[in-house]
Amino acid sequence: MKKQQDTRNVRRDYLHGQLSKENLDQDPVRQFGHWMHDAVEAEITDATCMTLATCGDDGMPAARIVLLKHHDETGFCWYTHYQSTKGIQLQQNPKASLLFYWREMDRQIRISGVVEKLPAETSDHYFDSRPIESRIGAIVSQQSQPIKSRQALLQQVEQQTQSSENAAVKRPDYWGGYRLKPSEFEFWQGREDRLHDRFRYLKNDHHWKIERLAP
Ligand SMILES: Cc1cc2nc3c(=O)[nH]c(=O)nc-3n(C[C@H](O)[C@H](O)[C@H](O)COP(=O)(O)O)c2cc1C
Repeated sequence: MKKQQDTRNVRRDYLHGQLSKENLDQDPVRQFGHWMHDAVEAEITDATCMTLATCGDDGMPAARIVLLKHHDETGFCWYTHYQSTKGIQLQQNPKASLLFYWREMDRQIRISGVVEKLPAETSDHYFDSRPIESRIGAIVSQQSQPIKSRQALLQQVEQQTQSSENAAVKRPDYWGGYRLKPSEFEFWQGREDRLHDRFRYLKNDHHWKIERLAP
């Protein structure tokens, strides 16, 4: 049996950069854009992965990774199954939190706000842009439901592939996009001796208030 890893002494220094109020953009969506640009330019693997945290009626938070597909001043968007665990939780409580962590740059971004479904045409447009295999996967997978076996799933894929051969593969109404409309951001830059830089943007009557937070 493998020995349990002792994680108490796993630590490292954060020396990649610094953040000050003067070099922050007044607009957090633009600030996010600068950091996303840096992450993509630095060829960080999975730069668009974000942890999505939701919480339904039972009060038990749940987190999972999804991919950011687009963002602008109206919000941050991803695509998924509307009847998955996250979909049900968002129906019960449309508030959520997103988290990006770019280890190579010692950067973390938290974004929270209210979530809404994207218009059907926007979801159609994205669905149609996906490879056929991904579209068929989205159709057959009842995401987050127990299934009998992988074999059973593959059979469904096979059946769907055959029945789709001569027909357009259209987005099912149980699959589509969400948009989180941000009301709060936090930008975190790791620094030496655990004295990290943290800035929070809070939305106040269409105006963003920026505060430095203790690390
Ligand atoms: C790198 C990565 C990217 C993922 N992207 C998505 C995504 O964009 N949409 C999605 O529904 N699930 C995505 N997943 C799977 C989710 O993490 C999760 O397993 C799934 O959405 C079911 O979550 P739920 O049961 O909490 O609803 C991704 C997982 C990983 C590791």
